[in-house]
Amino acid sequence: MVFDFVEGGAGRELAVARNQNRFDEILLQPRVLEDVSARSLSTRFLNDNFDVPFGIAPMGMCNLVHHNADKIMCEVARTKNLPFCVSSASSTNLETVRNDTGVNSWFQLYMGNSLEHYMSLINRAKKAGYQTLVLTVDVPQVSRRTRDLRNGFKVPFKIGLRQFIDFAMHPSWSVSKILHGTPRPENYDGYEGVKFDRYASRAGLNWELLSQLRDTWKGNLIVKGVTSPSDAQKIVSYGVDAIYVSNHGGRQLDSVPAAIDLLPIIRDTVGLEFPIIFDSGIRGGEDVLKALALGANFVMLGRPVLHAMSAGGKKGLTSLFDAVSEDISVGLAQLGLNTIQQINSNCIWPLSSHSGNSGQSDKTENWLISLPKKKEKA
Ligand SMILES: Cc1cc2nc3c(=O)[nH]c(=O)nc-3n(C[C@H](O)[C@H](O)[C@H](O)COP(=O)(O)O)c2cc1C
Repeated sequence: MVFDFVEGGAGRELAVARNQNRFDEILLQPRVLEDVSARSLSTRFLNDNFDVPFGIAPMGMCNLVHHNADKIMCEVARTKNLPFCVSSASSTNLETVRNDTGVNSWFQLYMGNSLEHYMSLINRAKKAGYQTLVLTVDVPQVSRRTRDLRNGFKVPFKIGLRQFIDFAMHPSWSVSKILHGTPRPENYDGYEGVKFDRYASRAGLNWELLSQLRDTWKGNLIVKGVTSPSDAQKIVSYGVDAIYVSNHGGRQLDSVPAAIDLLPIIRDTVGLEFPIIFDSGIRGGEDVLKALALGANFVMLGRPVLHAMSAGGKKGLTSLFDAVSEDISVGLAQLGLNTIQQINSNCIWPLSSHSGNSGQSDKTENWLISLPKKKEKA
């Protein structure tokens, strides 16, 4: 049931597959004889310097996959100097996450069915010291996820016969929940009359509320779940600090284009300098390179983070991040580059099929076209 909650998507899950398949179809162009001995993955995004160009995407109820998942993400984000975006629907309250992660924590805000709860989350995030708020806008209504419906997955759990059999067949998971308690969405604790309801409508979010949020939130404001170029343009005009291109990992609409196909189009629309984050379909270091080459300034990992922790707790997550970092570094070497800032659309093969834009603000000279032209053979 928990595996299906993580892995599942909207409808027939074609969008989940499409996100990854399109990454597989995109190819990189290796280069040779460039001195790549001074490679670094350090990346500046908004006002912060991170050691790698990726972070942890917001995901609800992470302690379902490992009893200590939230704590592990806080610790690993801090020690590896990468951002951890904690969800409104997290299984640990936002104050504890801020405390355990420090400045590397971002807070993801959902507009739930209660405006009062939404306002209160903003105030709590401010008070707790978050500098970066990520407003998720692509869940006006949680989609029908067939696996969850079939499994009777609910938060908090409802235990019927089917769930009982499932738990009995996964004893180590069940024992861990008995020992450590069943996770619950802690950011909803302590509100009279406000209960977490995963399927409650979040349809009330609108442009007016975005405008109000921009007026009141003085820190970084990022809007997550943008797939339309015209929405992107309008959101930028509201004075946000970055847009987050994502189709929610194919969890919301089955017929949505692959997120990576939308990225270069949105980059073209908002211009070279506007900060863009990307997720949906990233499964390794080469995918990170592809997203950066197609217009992202920063990339977030979702499902792989949960799989890594469910397989190996802290060791699993550390290994995942080490492997992704190593792949990015080796990939940079293959591309003939030393820094993340040098990545641009010339890294994509074939060169002509993508616009000449780079998502990086530190534009390096176009090293590819500056090479001497090959002499025609007689
Ligand atoms: C189990 C799970 C829970 C999620 N919960 C949230 C959430 O609470 N808020 C949010 O903005 N996105 C949420 N997402 C979406 C992720 O932030 C991200 O957009 C998505 O996982 C990217 O797709 P990928 O994991 O296939 O790369 C969730 C994703 C998963 C897998």
